[in-house]
Amino acid sequence: QSRTPLIAGNWKMNLDHLQAIAFVQKLAWSLKDAGHNYADVEAAIFPPFTDLRSVQTLVSADKLELAYGAQDVSQHASGAYTGEISGAFLKQLDCRYVIIGHSERRTLHAETDEVVAAKTAAAIANGIVPIICVGETAEDLEKHGPSAVPVAQLTAALSSVQSASDIVVAYEPVWAIGSGQAATPEQAEAVCAALRGVLESTLGSDVAAKTRILYGGSVKSTNIGGFMKQPNVDGALVGGASLDLTEFASIIRYQK
Ligand code: G3H
Repeated sequence: QSRTPLIAGNWKMNLDHLQAIAFVQKLAWSLKDAGHNYADVEAAIFPPFTDLRSVQTLVSADKLELAYGAQDVSQHASGAYTGEISGAFLKQLDCRYVIIGHSERRTLHAETDEVVAAKTAAAIANGIVPIICVGETAEDLEKHGPSAVPVAQLTAALSSVQSASDIVVAYEPVWAIGSGQAATPEQAEAVCAALRGVLESTLGSDVAAKTRILYGGSVKSTNIGGFMKQPNVDGALVGGASLDLTEFASIIRYQK
């Protein structure tokens, strides 16, 4: 079964509003000029919440073939949760995706596996595809090997997922994020294959075959090709390199 590759750019807390708007327009033009076919590789950006409304306007007014989503979502539907953003709010802005359980959320905002599962359920309930992030720290790697922690995190996150739901998984070894030291394609493949095994045992073989699993952690235009050659790697979650227009466009237009 073929899975359309997804290249997702997580801007984190970078690019101000005007920079964000200019970036989206230039990215769309540059991909169009290069003859990029979105049916072959789907591109998505994840700007800060404050840019989503403008991105929605740009994408719909100019009919840009660019998906977008948020970097987080509340596990709650509404109420007294100061500073939180609900899945319903994101859906109104036509977000196709939301990143859930990024290691920075897990580490800096104490998000547990339970919270990640609840946020996954909140995204699905609102018709937004969750990109569920999992990954081991350097310490986990030393103590438990590469797959144990990502497998446990994904198993926990899937506790609230029905097999019919559309989801994306992102394997991001924490030691590779922003370090310039990416996993090797073979390391990424081994863990992504184990994660596909989790999808198969919890949600069945059809879901396992159709679900995209991304690799993230120091992805650049010079190493994307190696990851995309792997049978169980279906795209990338890109941080730093997604802030550079030329670099991000080259990653989207990778050659195997
Ligand atoms: O969400 C993206 C990841 O954290 C990867 O970040 O590409 O800067 O290593 P990076």
